[in-house]
Amino acid sequence: MDSPYHAVREKFRAVFGDEPARLRIIRAPGRVNLIGEHTDYNDGFVLPMAIEPEVRVACRARKDDKVRISSTAFAGQIVEFSLQQTIERAEPKWANYMRGVAAGLIGAGIPLVGMDAIYDNTLPVGGGLSSSAAIEVATAHSLLALSGNTMDVGRIALLCQKAEHEYALVPSGIMDQTAVAAGKAGHAMLLDCRSLAKQFIPIDSRDLQIVIVNSMVHHELSGGEYAKRRRQCEEGVAYFHRINPSVVALRDVTQAQVQEAEGKLSPIVFKRCRHVVSEIARTTAAAQKLTAKFYEEVGDLMVQSHQSLRDDYEVSIPELDFLAEQAMTIKGVYGARMTGGGFGGCIIAMTQPRAVEPLIEHLSKVYPEKFNRKPTIVVTTATAGASVVE
Ligand code: GLA
Repeated sequence: MDSPYHAVREKFRAVFGDEPARLRIIRAPGRVNLIGEHTDYNDGFVLPMAIEPEVRVACRARKDDKVRISSTAFAGQIVEFSLQQTIERAEPKWANYMRGVAAGLIGAGIPLVGMDAIYDNTLPVGGGLSSSAAIEVATAHSLLALSGNTMDVGRIALLCQKAEHEYALVPSGIMDQTAVAAGKAGHAMLLDCRSLAKQFIPIDSRDLQIVIVNSMVHHELSGGEYAKRRRQCEEGVAYFHRINPSVVALRDVTQAQVQEAEGKLSPIVFKRCRHVVSEIARTTAAAQKLTAKFYEEVGDLMVQSHQSLRDDYEVSIPELDFLAEQAMTIKGVYGARMTGGGFGGCIIAMTQPRAVEPLIEHLSKVYPEKFNRKPTIVVTTATAGASVVE
């Protein structure tokens, strides 16, 4: 148990020194989404899982109300704020996730104590694997553990999502924080983003391997395109709501109703709605097929998802299109698609175990030839959501 966390403990000591107060270790995994993209903020379904790369925090309580944080990604900086004063967004930006979560916990009436903490991230930042949600959820667990409190994981996810909205200014859905906070080892999570009900579906690693290929194109959700997609969906909802007042989200619209709206909605809003409504249907279908171990059919749905994200939702980029297409040329790869918000980041491939090596070999060769960048590739199983290690 010591080995993966030894390094973060040592890094803590190097920054904050050795003191008698007990050092706590917290881990929060990243997430990858099998299918169900840009459906969470439309009250739809998503099918993510927590993955092995993770954020690790070493922290200890302070006797005063100060929070002092350091990150191995920004060596030499220590950010400090007080739990007694209103916590505002501030520079450096990386600390806003921690500020937002601390503010949220205080707002929820949790009596916190000060902390010194160091964050060590084995997730690629801007890789579309939810490093920000992992940082948020890790912060919540750290502050809760040090103050002797616990909180339901669903509530932690909601509180972290609020921090993302208000402190990172990304109007994200609830998928990332829920997968990070409440993932289950060996399982994908079918999350109903309206009721927040979770259903866990086993992923048997003897049958399936999950390969994540990072295009190394940095994705940035605060860039405006994400918020623009949300507004376009809202425009769609407003149209369907006028026809039928019981429609409050694209979740309430059928594929036939979207087809009928062609020519009445603006062409862009029509395409956005067509993606979301068809993607919600693909996600529930994929969950059923995965449960039944009909892997080829799950794979087909993943490929359709990519095409819809590329053509109708327009959040893919040539690098992701190329990686997803090339992955499908390898025998034993069931499905491949871009995963996460888009505009960079990663593809996910679901493969037979024997296809993993040929897939890695192929993409490591053809991707740099075409785009002059080396992809980074992670083979992972589904892990458990965030936890206090010690
Ligand atoms: C980002 C957001 C999520 C979700 C995905 C797209 O990861 O944080 O809430 O909307 O994009 O599926």
